[in-house]
Amino acid sequence: MSMVAMENSSNQKSGYAAETINLTKIYKSNSVEVYALQNVNLKIRRGEFVAVVGPSGSGKSTLLNLLGVLDKPTSGHVLIDGVDTSTLNSVELAKLRNEKIGFIFQAYNLINRTTVLRNVELPAVVKGVPKEERIRRAKELLELMGLGDKLNRKPLTLSGGEQQRVAIARALINNPTLILGDEPTGNVDSKTGYEIFDLLRKLSREHGATIVVVTHNLELAKLTDRIVYLRDGKIEDEKIMGEI
Ligand SMILES: Nc1ncnc2c1ncn2[C@@H]1O[C@H](COP(=O)(O)OP(=O)(O)O)[C@@H](O)[C@H]1O
Ligand SMILES: [Mg+2]
Repeated sequence: MSMVAMENSSNQKSGYAAETINLTKIYKSNSVEVYALQNVNLKIRRGEFVAVVGPSGSGKSTLLNLLGVLDKPTSGHVLIDGVDTSTLNSVELAKLRNEKIGFIFQAYNLINRTTVLRNVELPAVVKGVPKEERIRRAKELLELMGLGDKLNRKPLTLSGGEQQRVAIARALINNPTLILGDEPTGNVDSKTGYEIFDLLRKLSREHGATIVVVTHNLELAKLTDRIVYLRDGKIEDEKIMGEI
């Protein structure tokens, strides 16, 4: 097994990588209540690659932010690795986000004044991983992403697809339980979009990574294990790929 294997995917406690129970989010603006999510029940198996699709405003980003414990639900629960996140204090939540969740954003969110290698290393610096170990792992991940020859480049000197692969390597550095992407292919051309989804699928199939991505692109969504259709804050339909 490769040294970059996601050891968290097996031989661990039972249960789901992530689970939502009656998850509800209501935004209040100017005394108007917007039901962004209503009683969403979703179970994501370890190693599963899930696409979330739906029209604009259907609650996709809200769901992802709640799964990533970036925001709190109005009611209901989010369990990560079997832990009910509503029982955690802010320090514990920050630790959970840093160690168990890897985010891939549409806008990459890379730090441009430093190198590709350093960008990938940073979440491991926060976690307190010893320098030699985190550099070794960052290099391995960047090699896996096909960027082994670009370690010392600044992110802005790379193509959009390459920058997104740096962001994926950064999301993986702490061996997260769950990788979340909100339209990670939103800013790249369609060929690069396919390459990124192919790479994510490989991470899920060969390394056991659990991945949830929002996408507008149904063709890309078909490359995953399951498509979850959101509409008006509810799960409207689900399709397991490979089954009709
Ligand atoms: N911070 C916010 N304040 C008020 N309303 C919001 C906020 N974020 C999202 N919404 C509303 O919640 C609904 C779902 O939004 P969102 O999750 O961003 O949908 P999607 O990502 O599917 O486009 C929309 O009606 C949106 O306008
Ligand atoms: Mg959105």
